[in-house]
Amino acid sequence: MSELHPDIEKVLLTEQDIKDITQRLGAEITADYADKNPLLVAVLRGAVVFMADLMRSVTCPIAIDFMATSSYGSGVTSSGTVRILKDLETNIRDRHVIIAEDILDSGLTLSNLIGMLNARGPASIEICAFAVKDIDGYTPPVTPKYVGCHVPNEFIVGYGLDYAERYRNLPYVGVLKSEVYS
Ligand code: IMP
Ligand code: MG
Repeated sequence: MSELHPDIEKVLLTEQDIKDITQRLGAEITADYADKNPLLVAVLRGAVVFMADLMRSVTCPIAIDFMATSSYGSGVTSSGTVRILKDLETNIRDRHVIIAEDILDSGLTLSNLIGMLNARGPASIEICAFAVKDIDGYTPPVTPKYVGCHVPNEFIVGYGLDYAERYRNLPYVGVLKSEVYS
C-alpha cells in the first residue's frame, strides 16, 4: 500500500478491504436486480469513487446517473437541509433506483433526498451505502438495504470522502487527525 498520508491518524479500510466490500455489494445487487435494469444513482461528489467500483462489480444490466446536493461545505457536521444542485437526467417513474452513497452519518441527506425522489413515482428506491457510521444511541431515519461496512463515529476521509475537498484521492479510508480540523 502507498505510504500513509501525514494527516491520517490510522487506516480503517485498506484497498483490499475496499475491493472485498465492493465485490460483495455488487454480487448482492446482481442477485436482487437480475431482470430489473436498475438505475444506479451516485450523489456527487463523495460517492464517485465508490460508484466506479460498485458498477463494475454488478454483472446484470444497469444504467447510471448522478445527482449533486448541497452538503457540509467545508465543515464536519451535517446541516440536515438538502438542496438539489444537479438533478438526475433520467426519468425515474417506474424505475428501480439504487442510491450509491459514500457514507451514512446522520442519514438526513438521504432521507430528504429519498423523499424528493419518491414523489417522482419510482418502482422502488433502495440505498447502497459504502459505509455506515455507528453513533451511540442514534437511529438514522433511513435504513440502507446494502451496507458495505460500519465505521466508528469519527471523521474519516479517503476513497471519495473529503475534508474541505481534500483527501478524496486517497485509495484507502482513514481517520483524519483531529488537529487537522480543530
Ligand atoms: P448525513 O446527512 O449526516 O448522513 O451526511 C452524509 C454526507 O456527509 C456523506 O454523504 C458525506 O458526504 C458527508 N460525511 C459524513 N460523515 C463524513 C465523514 O466522516 N467524512 C467525510 N464526509 C462525511
Ligand atoms: Mg456525500
